[in-house]
Amino acid sequence: MTDDVAKVLLGERVILSRLDELALQITEDYRGKELTVIAILNGSFIFLADLLRRIPLPVQVESLSIASYDGVKSTGSVEFRQARLADVRGRHVLLLDDILDSGLTVHAVRERLADGSGALSLRSCVLLRKSVPQIRQIDPDYVGFDIPDEFVVGYGLDYNERYRNLPYIGVLTDEAIRRYAR
Ligand code: IMP
Ligand code: MG
Repeated sequence: MTDDVAKVLLGERVILSRLDELALQITEDYRGKELTVIAILNGSFIFLADLLRRIPLPVQVESLSIASYDGVKSTGSVEFRQARLADVRGRHVLLLDDILDSGLTVHAVRERLADGSGALSLRSCVLLRKSVPQIRQIDPDYVGFDIPDEFVVGYGLDYNERYRNLPYIGVLTDEAIRRYAR
């Protein structure tokens, strides 16, 4: 699997020490508040686990399964795989996503949560932000890393459902991209 990685962009230690900083900031911002974290799956599952273990506050965890990517490209549409959102009345909501690219995913979730969900506040946190022109302008409240416009895998992010379990974030070889294209 690691032979398929052309370049490691963010090593495990770098990621985890940035999570220490993010978690500290989030802990200070939400102290004494009723916090619900909504993770956008599948991509954010490792980020969710590592981040939440660094936040020593009572927190409710929910998830949303969403797909918007096929191979290395956005499909341009956001597919919600479940009909109902969590009940967030009277709660402060923090949306968690692996990567902000076109902005379509976070925008779609924010729209659904904005309509009468009763949330007291709504913020978003992304591990990675790609430097690309966003289709939907999203200004996340918490950003782990700004990265160049490259397709990345690992630490939860996939290429056609592979490589999510790499402990670091890297760029694939062209050979691997071709091999697992569908
Ligand atoms: P957006 O809706 O275009 O902002 O894209 C967000 C979603 O697309 C992410 O949650 C990922 O699932 C997927 N995605 C975007 N860029 C990458 C990438 O470089 N590698 C893997 N998945 C990506
Ligand atoms: Mg995703």
